[in-house]
Amino acid sequence: MAKPKKRYACQACGSVTHRWQGQCPDCSEWNTLVEDAPATVFSLKHDLSSGGRAVEFVDLDKPGALPIRQPTGLAEFDRALGGGLVPGSAILMGGDPGIGKSTLLLQAAAQIARQGRGVIYVSGEEAAGQVRMRAARLGLSDAPVKLASATGVRDILTTLGQMETPAFLVIDSIQTMHSDTIEGAPGTVSQVRGCAFELIRYAKENGVALVLVGHVTKDGTIAGPRVLEHMVDVVMSFEGERSHQYRILRALKNRFGAVDEIGVFSMAGEGLEEVANPSMLFLSGRSEPMAGSAVFPAIEGTRPVLVEIQALIVRLQSGATPRRAVVGWDSGRLAMLLAVLESRCGLNFSSAEVYLNVAGGYRLSDPAADLAVAAALVSALADRPLPEGSVWLGEVSLAGEIRPVAHGGLRLKEAAKLGFTRGHGPADSKNLPSDLEFIGLGQLANLVDRVITSA
Ligand code: TYD
Ligand code: MG
Repeated sequence: MAKPKKRYACQACGSVTHRWQGQCPDCSEWNTLVEDAPATVFSLKHDLSSGGRAVEFVDLDKPGALPIRQPTGLAEFDRALGGGLVPGSAILMGGDPGIGKSTLLLQAAAQIARQGRGVIYVSGEEAAGQVRMRAARLGLSDAPVKLASATGVRDILTTLGQMETPAFLVIDSIQTMHSDTIEGAPGTVSQVRGCAFELIRYAKENGVALVLVGHVTKDGTIAGPRVLEHMVDVVMSFEGERSHQYRILRALKNRFGAVDEIGVFSMAGEGLEEVANPSMLFLSGRSEPMAGSAVFPAIEGTRPVLVEIQALIVRLQSGATPRRAVVGWDSGRLAMLLAVLESRCGLNFSSAEVYLNVAGGYRLSDPAADLAVAAALVSALADRPLPEGSVWLGEVSLAGEIRPVAHGGLRLKEAAKLGFTRGHGPADSKNLPSDLEFIGLGQLANLVDRVITSA
């Protein structure tokens, strides 16, 4: 048999090369290549005598059982999952440290166990006593969850093989797991990949719903190889600002359903509480109108969420490079909007510091928020509050046009229901609600005129 070639895997992106280099050829990170376990080399003889088995083909229309979803009992968790857990599926749960992943999963585990289904919670990060203490604090001590503190995948799978197959298995976290068949310390690419592979295979073969907790690195990606995201059926991210009480559970990938619904929770002294109606959550709730604040009607799946966007502009006296800081929005998109406001509307931000904040720790990625951000910026620059009771939506093009957005009519209808009286958006909006005054804006320059003249 040919001697297996050495392989080097990048700890940042997971790419594999056969030659060690200082810089990863794929993601250009430095000093991230480490030697990986060699791949097994198979013989290239392809006939049934070589030990391969014939693969069975089926037709697409062959009636088969659709995955049956099992509700966890946490309605917001189920909503983000697209209706509940699918047996035999693997979920990767990512999120910043301390955001509440372990708390959420312990609560879900307890709910499922209370329904009489088998639940196993393996923590590689905390001692069993610590998890028990947390359960006591959350009032979950009575739930028949089987708890273990372990990091050896072989031990875990051996134990699972000797007991009744559980319905739900939590591994907290995959970065602490270790397989003795693979070289390397826990958390390295080959360990994470190998451990995840073994656990996922167990889950698929036994119809267990598996959740792997994944650490998130500084830049917000799940630590370890990207391949982990390919291996699992569902990738979820638990988001929020640690200093705020609200947490959002979002599916980034879901092989069994849509990814547009979010689950909203609020972190309280007794754990995570579900927020069934989040529409007004991300508004600051002040009564006085303030310069630099605009409300954007976001939509999350089927639920409207009104979000306040705050901008602050500070004029610099000296020639120092002005700062641009953004929380909850994309900084590249802010740079683009500032450039469009400068070149199409003649506004000058070049000698000013610009700060943008999305209230309540909410993270916006919808391009429909462009107009609301522009409105907040113009209002802050002019130091004039926007007209009271207004919402703003529309995508801004590089030419300064305001483009239509998805579900425009529906968003405005929901805003009207929540007491907003004026909507600003693309001039050609359709399906507008009758109980809301609508102001169509064709160009970003129209917005500037309105803000400057309406006060
Ligand atoms: P945790 O679930 O340990 O986070 P993760 O697993 O994502 O790292 O949550 C830790 C934080 O949650 C902790 O800093 C305090 C807070 N918390 C509460 O506010 N209330 C509670 O009831 C619990 C259990 C945690
Ligand atoms: Mg944890």
